Amino acid sequence: MDEIYLKQVRALLDDNVIGSIANVASFLYETLHDVNWVGYYFHRDDKLILGPFMGKIACSKLALDKGVCAKAFRDKSVTYVRDVHNFDGHIACDADSRSELVLPLYNKEKVIGVLDIDAPITDRFNQDDIDMLSEVAMIISAYLSGYDQAAS
Ligand code: SME
Repeated sequence: MDEIYLKQVRALLDDNVIGSIANVASFLYETLHDVNWVGYYFHRDDKLILGPFMGKIACSKLALDKGVCAKAFRDKSVTYVRDVHNFDGHIACDADSRSELVLPLYNKEKVIGVLDIDAPITDRFNQDDIDMLSEVAMIISAYLSGYDQAAS
């Protein structure tokens, strides 16, 4: 099952970088149950700036010292918050969000941004989900590593 899913993700990636990663966000948004936001933030000028996404309007820029995305970026680690109401400094772009999974994205060794997935229910993601979405983030990272200009 996961292999087919990951193959579908890979099939969305072509030489149109923004369009390709936007399509992956759309694919995740449409195929994962109980998610209300899927998108990217990329590191630029000491901030995380909004990339392609699916869901409600979101914060255009995030500071690096606050919120779940910034923590995942700083820690360079997959960060899962089971209940965002219990995360000090959570940035609520959508008041419906209750749990959040943030996966770092890399250009080779360097963290360049994050893939952010929000859910309107607490504890939406189990370990299998996290493992599978970590694979998706690795696929996107490998893809972006081939496009230095878009992913510096
Ligand atoms: N909740 C995130 C901000 C981004 S939105 O969820 C789209 C955070 O705390 O970093």
